[in-house]
Amino acid sequence: MKNNSREQAQKTFVPTLLRWNKEKNTRQMPWKGEKDPYKIWLSEIILQQTRVEQGLNYYNNFIKTFPDIHKLAKAADEKVFKLWEGLGYYSRCRNLLVTARYISKELNGKFPDNYEDIRKLKGVGPYTAAAISSFAFNLPYAVVDGNVFRVLARIYGITIPIDSTDGKKYFATLAENLLDKKQPGYYNQAIMDFGAVICKPVTPLCSNCGFKKICSAFINNKINELPVKEKKISIKKRWFYYLVLEYKNEIAVRQRIEKDIWQDLYEFPLIEADKEMDKKNILKQAEKNKWVHKGKYELLAVSPLFKQQLSHQLIAGQFIKLKLKGNHDLESNWIWVTKSRIGKFAFPRFINQYLNEKGGQQSLF
Ligand code: ADE
Repeated sequence: MKNNSREQAQKTFVPTLLRWNKEKNTRQMPWKGEKDPYKIWLSEIILQQTRVEQGLNYYNNFIKTFPDIHKLAKAADEKVFKLWEGLGYYSRCRNLLVTARYISKELNGKFPDNYEDIRKLKGVGPYTAAAISSFAFNLPYAVVDGNVFRVLARIYGITIPIDSTDGKKYFATLAENLLDKKQPGYYNQAIMDFGAVICKPVTPLCSNCGFKKICSAFINNKINELPVKEKKISIKKRWFYYLVLEYKNEIAVRQRIEKDIWQDLYEFPLIEADKEMDKKNILKQAEKNKWVHKGKYELLAVSPLFKQQLSHQLIAGQFIKLKLKGNHDLESNWIWVTKSRIGKFAFPRFINQYLNEKGGQQSLF
């Protein structure tokens, strides 16, 4: 964008946004106005794939448990994963630990104070680097998250798909040109809040909006059509059948090594399928996997069907509780745990749903 068009774009947009922020924005969040880069970084990692309402408790618990980066760096992996439990996308938690330990040990606890070095931290992408740089160090980097895409697409009537290469570039340039360079942190927080509170994805509050007279989407009745996305999400269906193996009042768990969103969490022996399976076939598969042996176990219970909707997949599954008779011969990566210790392990939400069902833990034993 040329200098004069930048000035034009900024002319009404920035003052209108900042006026709304000053006079009407009552949104409160513990990291707002925060200057400690450790706390800002933590909040931004938590919020990467999580709604603010869900992230709040996690943020407060983390800050209480690990008030500074050295405390987080020194913590045992298990403890940090347990605190992260339920937030999903666990690679964020792994990267959190890598970065905390790097800053604590290699940088003596001093958080990098320029965009390039912040961007190099594990788990920090362009959005998060811009957020930390502007909030903590008042550096002129514009955040471009879902809120910003939506606000700009609607106000400026931009139909370039936000998930296309051209779209990403276009929005990044516009966001950068609009940024209030004197108070980038304040401005960035204002546009995100505006997107979350007023220019919401569904039923935005257009009737009281200060942009009503200039908002292209409002004027042209295109609120529900903007922003445009190129790719339609296809939802994959998966069936998970967990075997809750009981042996001498203990059950078998193992740490998941598959490189997916549940890596490093614990789980029961799992049979995965792309369609529904009946009990007979599940048990046949369990025998084939040598988790149980024909005639050497007793079926205790089959749970109701549990469901979980993720952004790109729908998971349905059941828990089949089996009591082993005679010696078990599971491989050494399986750990046998008692009921009193099960709470120490971090599980995927799907398993926690089962464990936390009324009487769930009792019904394990
Ligand atoms: N999402 C990510 N970062 C945020 C922030 N600082 N405020 C509100 N929502 C956010």
